[in-house]
Amino acid sequence: MIRIGIVGAGAIAAVHIDSFLQFASLCEVVAVCDTFVDKAHSLITDKKVNAQAYADIQTMLDEGNLDAISICLPPNMHATVAIQALSSGKHVIVEKPMASSLQECDQMIAAAKKHNKLLCVVSQNRWKTQLNNTKRIMDEGLLGKVVHASFDSLWWRGSVYYDLWWRGTWEQEAGGVFTSHSVHYLDLMQMLFGMPKKVQAFISNINHTNSECEDIGFAVFTYEDKVINFTSSLVSHGEKQAIVINGEKASISIPFSVSSYNSLPNGFPEQNKELEKQIQKRYEELPALELEGHPAQLLNFLRAIEQKEALALDGNVGRQTIELIHAIYKSAVLQRPVDLPLESTDPFYTKEGLVQKMPRFHTKGKSVDNFSTSKITLGRDFNA
Ligand SMILES: NC(=O)c1ccc[n+]([C@@H]2O[C@H](COP(=O)([O-])OP(=O)(O)OC[C@H]3O[C@@H](n4cnc5c(N)ncnc54)[C@H](O)[C@@H]3O)[C@@H](O)[C@H]2O)c1
Repeated sequence: MIRIGIVGAGAIAAVHIDSFLQFASLCEVVAVCDTFVDKAHSLITDKKVNAQAYADIQTMLDEGNLDAISICLPPNMHATVAIQALSSGKHVIVEKPMASSLQECDQMIAAAKKHNKLLCVVSQNRWKTQLNNTKRIMDEGLLGKVVHASFDSLWWRGSVYYDLWWRGTWEQEAGGVFTSHSVHYLDLMQMLFGMPKKVQAFISNINHTNSECEDIGFAVFTYEDKVINFTSSLVSHGEKQAIVINGEKASISIPFSVSSYNSLPNGFPEQNKELEKQIQKRYEELPALELEGHPAQLLNFLRAIEQKEALALDGNVGRQTIELIHAIYKSAVLQRPVDLPLESTDPFYTKEGLVQKMPRFHTKGKSVDNFSTSKITLGRDFNA
């Protein structure tokens, strides 16, 4: 039985506990830690788990007899606590964003290697039926060579969202909408297409005056053989998130739709109904995932601890998404295209470099310790 400790008893911790509870034959949540220890007690009571509440992380690591921890803390603590736990011999699953800098990512990866423990980064949207089946269609070559894709990573948050003490500063949250929200879609981009060679980006903050960081941004990624445009927004009512993949033979979109054109002798389009039907049929015959989202990823983490499955999303994969984000920030600040990968000598490799270089769009003037509700949404589902 894998003994789990949860660090941080805020909004996402509840999702982790609900997920672990689905696998009661594999694991048990035996510890919950929060500096506001009453929050740890409330979560234990609400979720009816037989766990000990702690106010201090090191005490939990020393006394909890744990095998693994879930890090559900604000982003600037991810690296320190992950390294602390790995050094105490615990496997670690850490919420997104993996860390505040590439340097921190590298330190986490090194600690996992040194102590021979698993380091897993949450990116639960990889476990979505629509995404997996779209990838399958693309990999089977039904679209032809992919030449272009577009990502609409569209979200909406009210201004008070940034009143929470750790949000809306480069120091604590490590970024704005690209870091905290589009991290999901940037991870899907690297899952579908790998890493680009170059990025050119723009960021701004147009409607969240209690945040130093961006609430909107645009990036264009260049690959050897394709271009991707990426929109990241926190001002989009309806959160109509979408991915469109354009191949030479056909286009496929999430939420699912398919289109195909043949060329007329003058280059104008003629609908290729036959290929559209073929892709639609193939898509419909592909099976649905048994589990989606956090439960699916946490189950993979548990099975990897048991050495029954490979870990699907380790520190190296998590690091690549941070690299995409920090290359976007570098390009936006320098107002020019930026080559990937970012070298360890780059000022944007460290948190100090990033914090020093990034613009302050607004001054964070208001700060609350906690909101009256922990209710959150995890973004519109592709099906919605
Ligand atoms: N995967 C997703 O879809 C998703 C969704 C929401 C949040 N998140 C991520 O989860 C993380 C936490 O977000 P949240 O919304 O749950 O935040 P939150 O503020 O609701 O919870 C964080 C908790 O950590 C506690 N904490 C802070 N410092 C601590 C310390 N030193 N020791 C112990 N506890 C401490 C706080 O008191 C708070 O209760 C963030 O990295 C966020 O980006 C991921």
